[in-house]
Amino acid sequence: MSNENKQNLPESAAKKPKRREMTRRQFLAYTLGGTTAFLAAGPTIPMVRFAVDPLLRKKDTAAFVKVVEESKVTTEPVSYKFQVHQVDGWFESDPEFEAWILKDDQNRIYALSPICKHLGCTIGWNNDPATPNEFMCPCHNAHYDKNGKNLIVAPTPLDEYEVKVDNGYVYLGGLKPNSRV
Ligand code: FES
Repeated sequence: MSNENKQNLPESAAKKPKRREMTRRQFLAYTLGGTTAFLAAGPTIPMVRFAVDPLLRKKDTAAFVKVVEESKVTTEPVSYKFQVHQVDGWFESDPEFEAWILKDDQNRIYALSPICKHLGCTIGWNNDPATPNEFMCPCHNAHYDKNGKNLIVAPTPLDEYEVKVDNGYVYLGGLKPNSRV
């Protein structure tokens, strides 16, 4: 471009774009800041992970527990106690549960919860001489049949455990609403 033409251009177009330089102070600040952040992340990340990890882990509630040999189960309800290992965050426990386990006429094994559906007392089997072959709750006299069907007092049938039979043993899982009545 000739000098004549340059003189005709507006002032802003004639100026060369200025390069932004980093000062020594800025360079040192960025370098030290980056290094400090990198060094701090080393111990911090495992600590954060340790703190929140149990909260992120899924609760192992669906596990089945071995309760009794299949050959011992008959059509007569029998109460069995069993423990379930539970992990809730940092807290581990082994609470005890109870189930009434029996077979139906088709030889299918099922397990009923012993918790009365009226107000939560513990039921028994054949514990009222006036009404044989029934579950009865001693607190307010609720009665249930062999399938857990509510006969008097209680508003709903007894809950059932998930049942799995494997290798000659009965395993129980979580509770579910009664599917037999
Ligand atoms: S708690 Fe069982 S009858 Fe009331």
